[in-house]
Amino acid sequence: MTIEWLDEERFRVGDLVFRYTQDYTAVTTDEEVIILKERPFVEFYIALLERERPKHLLEVGFYEGGSALLWAMLFPASPQSIFARSIRQSSDSRRDFPT
Ligand SMILES: C[S@@+](CC[C@H](N)C(=O)[O-])C[C@H]1O[C@@H](n2cnc3c(N)ncnc32)[C@H](O)[C@@H]1O
Repeated sequence: MTIEWLDEERFRVGDLVFRYTQDYTAVTTDEEVIILKERPFVEFYIALLERERPKHLLEVGFYEGGSALLWAMLFPASPQSIFARSIRQSSDSRRDFPT
């Protein structure tokens, strides 16, 4: 899958729209996946993952899980596993994401 930027805060991957915010009360809904990485960070990590192709990925602090979901969608073959932990429980909204 590829990433299509809709504006500086929103992008589409497959049929999902991701939205960047700094609002720590925002939750993922059926309409949008919340991600707490602004565009330069998203682009930095995509380039990093493309270059390094890690076998396993550990994310500490995932908020609504937007980043882990994004990496899983963009890089379905590598990493083989993504393990994410967070001090905060995510909302119930999209626990059925196919990650
Ligand atoms: C800036 S958000 C990053 C969210 C996610 N990576 C993203 O891009 O959408 C940081 C997250 O780390 C969590 N966090 C902060 N301190 C933590 C800790 N000591 N252990 C685990 N998670 C922590 C916060 O609750 C928050 O969900």
